[in-house]
Amino acid sequence: MADDARGRAVFGARLGRLASGALALSLGCSASAPPPATPRPERESGGDHARAPDGRRGAAIYDRWWAALGIDFRPDNAASADVADGAGGPRGDGTLNGAGGKAMLNGGHDYRFKNLFGWDLRGADGVYGAQYLSKPHVLATDLLSVDWSRQEMADRFTRGGAGVPAFGQVLDSDQIADVVAFVFDVREGRLPRPDQIWELSPGTAGGYRLKSGANVERGRQLVGERCARCHGTDGRRFPIDDSHSLGSHTRQKAYEDWLKFIGGQPGTSMSSQLPEGQDGAAHAADILDILAALCDRTAFPAGEPSAGDAADGDVRCGAYLK
Ligand code: HEC
Repeated sequence: MADDARGRAVFGARLGRLASGALALSLGCSASAPPPATPRPERESGGDHARAPDGRRGAAIYDRWWAALGIDFRPDNAASADVADGAGGPRGDGTLNGAGGKAMLNGGHDYRFKNLFGWDLRGADGVYGAQYLSKPHVLATDLLSVDWSRQEMADRFTRGGAGVPAFGQVLDSDQIADVVAFVFDVREGRLPRPDQIWELSPGTAGGYRLKSGANVERGRQLVGERCARCHGTDGRRFPIDDSHSLGSHTRQKAYEDWLKFIGGQPGTSMSSQLPEGQDGAAHAADILDILAALCDRTAFPAGEPSAGDAADGDVRCGAYLK
């Protein structure tokens, strides 16, 4: 698609998001309300950067770019091999192109950065690797240690190649710069690193365990201050991720939730949960305290309907499981 045509498509999607953002403001916290959008002027392609890259916004784009940006896109269905049957994207069928300009069918990655590089950005060395959750779509590249400059990373995301789709056909250069800023903010300590919160655990449920040393009492207070107004004091006000309560989710998917703290839940009223003015280590301490507090199955019970909960002896919460 030509640059200006893409610009119009993205702008149209933003207008839609502005309208739904106003709706979200009037509804307050609700499970289906999209986040309020911050209006910003559309940039002429080739012009100067209109704003500094934003790593938190980049985290949401890394998670699920179309939901984060209000772009109409439904990924090609990975189950129907050989047929492109999604919607949106440069071909209108839910595929993106690879570096060579050919359509890339969905091999299970859903065209999400987090599926290509993992929740922890470490590719096959991380939690999606063979020893842990063993996801077939994860790439070998470890974004936390790869020797690419920011520009090189932005170019690779834009043009695609080696299993990466050409994201430049659906994301503008500011949005790609946000994703790169997210990666470098994590690497350089402005945002929390996953290994400050949990460690990989080969061959056990979920492939990870929370780090020791949390202050559970403080975490409980932070849940009350930062999460309860939406999720309820016991975390059961509305189901999350289909069927979980806040407690049952965080007890089983902390490898995922650390990213939700940074970028929020794309397409909902939950924005970044990290206070401004702290460095990555302070954020990581808050997150670990909160996740440890949420390991209390009595104070934060599983939801109804429930997708199941961590059983006695489950290692993910370690000694915090109550
Ligand atoms: C402004 C309201 C709001 C606040 C504050 C908030 N959340 Fe959320 N949260 C939501 C909404 C809405 C969803 C999406 C529910 C859905 O799936 O539709 C959500 C989803 C989640 C999810 C599920 C992510 C997934 O994979 O589906 C987790 C985990 C979560 N929140 C954790 C937290 C934690 C921890 C806090 C406190 C630090 C918090 N939230 C604060 C509104 C909020």
